[in-house]
Parts: sequence; structure tokens; C-alpha cells
Amino acid sequence: MTNLIETLREALGADIVYDGNHCPARNRTDWSGAAPTLPDAVVMPRTTDQLAEAMRLCHAARQRVVIQGGMTGLAAGAVPEPGEVALSLERLAGIEEIDPLGATMTVLAGTPLELAQAAAETAGFSLGIDLGARGSCTIGGNVATNAGGIQVLRYGMTRANVLGLEVVLADGTIVSGLNTMLKNNAGYDWPHLFIGSEGTLGVITRVVLKLHPQRRNIRTAFVTCAAFGDAIAALRALEKTLGGELLAFEAMWPDFIAFARDACQIGIPLDTAGGLALIIEATAPSADGDIFEQALMQLIEDGLLADAVVAKSDAERQRIWAVREAPAEFPTRLPGLIGFDVSIPLKVFGDAIIALRDGLARQWPQAIALCYGHVADSNLHLIVHQQRSGADTRDAINAFVYGTVAAFGGTVSAEHGIGKIKKKHLPLTRTQGELALMRRMKAALDPHGILNAGRIF
Ligand code: FAD
Ligand code: LAC
Ligand code: ZN
Repeated sequence: MTNLIETLREALGADIVYDGNHCPARNRTDWSGAAPTLPDAVVMPRTTDQLAEAMRLCHAARQRVVIQGGMTGLAAGAVPEPGEVALSLERLAGIEEIDPLGATMTVLAGTPLELAQAAAETAGFSLGIDLGARGSCTIGGNVATNAGGIQVLRYGMTRANVLGLEVVLADGTIVSGLNTMLKNNAGYDWPHLFIGSEGTLGVITRVVLKLHPQRRNIRTAFVTCAAFGDAIAALRALEKTLGGELLAFEAMWPDFIAFARDACQIGIPLDTAGGLALIIEATAPSADGDIFEQALMQLIEDGLLADAVVAKSDAERQRIWAVREAPAEFPTRLPGLIGFDVSIPLKVFGDAIIALRDGLARQWPQAIALCYGHVADSNLHLIVHQQRSGADTRDAINAFVYGTVAAFGGTVSAEHGIGKIKKKHLPLTRTQGELALMRRMKAALDPHGILNAGRIF
């Protein structure tokens, strides 16, 4: 290994390759709560050519490599294993081109999402990807995990926002497919294989993103609602009245609201009276007339919603979203929490939540269970915290939650991916045939199994 580190240093320069105590703390763990682990070296290339050279040398030496973006992942995919080389994209960052006629943006993969969003706005467009980790997560990480977030009902997941990719394969081959057109059916649409592959098939180095018309007149409401079924009926009604203007529809259950208020000291804009809280956001074609408020008032009259408060300023909008962003504080308030990210078909979503809550309360009466999620996308986030829980208890909680989700026809990962922490549960969601096909794809693209080994399967 020392030889390879020296070879990497000679090929790339001493300012690109770090080892021992010089490996920065940020490259040792992510947001999943996994224990920090020192890689054998951290490589931080500044160009695709340097990155490809690093991969070529690691491939020749059969050296395992873990790819790192913004380290905000929640599945431990970017957390090194002992003996791995960490390949960090942090210096491969920047906006390369914005094409206002084609409405596309080309960025280097290490570009933080927030920076790409700001560049799109400056150019008179909006980006279709947004999530709470926007300040730190990278576009490459978003593509590698096919990130979801809070605007999926409007723009789809990251996949729907990608037009082209440049990737570096495990053996160092650079493959450029920087397509900028909406339509291109010339052969396999291979970039989609890499989107959501969690770094197991190749390193994403450049991304062409679709730009959307700039969002105007954003209206944000904090809404209360008695029952989950009413919330979804309200969603369907709003899709009809607001058409494509709907931007976000997030739900938070009573325990989540109580925890955000009492433990995180976050102001709750409305008394939820033991019901659900929703954040509903939409744009409007003009600032005049308030179709949004009228639509909400109508739903209150119809009895689907209980109450609503609409933000009158950007500060009020921030206060509403602060409630939804409370989970960023949960790991410090609830150390050792288990964070679930599952999808459940909407028609059984409410029943599944009852089954999950009842089962957890029966088997682990002391456990805290907090529910929230991107419900328009049938995506539930469930936080479970059992004090002083050992590995056996955690395994039992995982088995119960994933087993229940699978029994309701759901999936073990909606948007965060499988990484290292959900591997065991993947067969609950994918058939043996699907898993065998995934392994064949992996073997074809990474024959020595050096890229993000042990992630996904
Ligand atoms: P990392 O954490 O560095 O890596 C994630 C995975 O992608 C790893 O397996 C890594 O090896 C691989 N990878 C990273 N970069 C590349 C690359 N260039 N090429 C190939 N593989 C690569 N996720 C959502 O989907 N929706 C949300 O709403 C959401 N909200 C979040 C809120 C908070 C507060 C936090 C902390 C996280 C949230 N996440 C959410 C999870 C996380 O932000 C996303 O998964 C994000 O896409 C990860 O990007 P990253 O750059 O931090 O990737
Ligand atoms: C969120 C992350 C956990 O939606 O996906 O807050
Ligand atoms: Zn989420």
C-alpha cells in the first residue's frame, strides 16, 4: 500500500494525496452516524484527467476505492472501510457552462448543490433539485444517489433533471456523454445506469442538468389536518386547482411536531391540535389575486384541512421551513437514532403508519418514533430512538420496520439508497433475478470489484 501511495503522489503531486494524520476529518464519515474510519489515503484530484489517472493506478494495483462527495449521505456509502483509498470530488467543482437557449447547465460533479441553484437563479432559471443538505451535498452525490428532496412532485427525482454525464470507469477510462438535448434515442441511454448506482459502477465527474423556468411568486403555507387520508385528498384537489404550480407537499406527524417544538425549540406556526402538519408550497403565474389562499380556504370549508397560515415574508417562509428542517438536529438530540427512508403505496400508507406505530409501541414501549416525509411521493421518513439499545435491539427494530414496509408493498429505500447500512434488507424489495442482474452489471463495469466495494450488495 505504501508503494501505491507513493506512486499516486509521484503521478498526481503531493498536494493531491494525503495519508495518516493528514487525512481530513471530513473524509472519515458521513451523516449516517457510522463510526469515523481512517482510509489509507485521501486523493483529491483537481481535474478529470488526474482522477482518471488515480483510478488507472488503483485498478492496476487492485486497490479498493471509496468515492466521496459532500459526505451528507445517510446510507454510509461514502464512509471508508479500513484499507480503502478515498477519492474525494471536493476540488472538482464549478459551473462550466450555462446555455440559456437550450436551458441547460454543465457542472463539475463536486459542485455543491446550493452553488448550482444560485447560478441557475442568476441566469434566470431554477434548478429542479432541492434538499435540506443543499449547502454541503454535491451534484455528483445527488446523481449517484438519485436524490429526491422537497420538489420531486414538480420536477421528479434527480434522474429526471439529468441530460448528460461524464464518468470515469473503474479502470480509469473516461466516458463522455455530455448530451444537452431533451431527445436523444441514439443507442442505450447509458447515463441512467450510473444515476442512483451509488458509486458502484463509475465515478461521475461532469453533469449536464436541465434548467426550469424561474420560479416566481412562491407561496408557502403551514397547514393542519386531522387525518392522513384528508391530506392526500387535499393534495389531489390542489393538483386540480393549481395545476403544475404545486411545488412541495410535506407532512409531519404529531410526535415529530412535539419533538421539534420541545426538544429542538423550534417555533410551530400553528397549533396542530394533535393532527398532522403540512407544508404546502406553490408558485403563481402572477402576484395579483391569491389563487393559493383561495384554494386552501376552499379545502378548509370542505373539511379536508383544519387551519392554514400563509407566509407573508421571506422570514415567515424560513420559519415554516425551519420546522421541516428540524431533523438536521436529531442526531445530536437522539444519538444512535435509526433513520428510515421508505416508500409505501399511498393507498395503504395510513394503515402502514398505524401498524408501524402500534408494533413499535408494543415491542419497544420506551422508544421514540417520529414520522415525517415527502408524502406526495409516498416517501416516509421514520426516526426510531431507543435509549441504550444494543446491536440486537437495533437489528430487531430494523427487521420489524422493513418487514412491515415490505408487507405493505413498500420499498426499503425511497431516496437515500442502500449504501452499507441497508444491504441486508435489499432482498425484501428486489427479486433474486433483479439482484443477479445488478451483480452482472457490476462485474461488467468493475471486474476487480474495487469501486465502492460492499455498497448496495
Ligand atoms: P456523499 O454523501 O458524499 O455520497 C453519497 C453516495 O454517493 C456514496 O455512496 C458515494 O460513494 C457516492 N458518490 C458521491 N459522489 C459521487 C460521484 N461523483 N460519483 C460516483 N459516486 C459518488 N437525500 C434525499 O434524497 N432527499 C432529501 O430530502 C435529503 N435530505 C437530507 C437532509 C439532510 C439534513 C441531510 C444531512 C441529508 C439529506 N439527504 C437527502 C441525503 C443526502 O444529502 C443525499 O443522499 C445527497 O445526494 C448526497 O450527496 P453527497 O454529495 O453528500 O454524497
Ligand atoms: C429529509 C431527509 C432525511 O427529507 O431525506 O429530511
Ligand atoms: Zn427526504
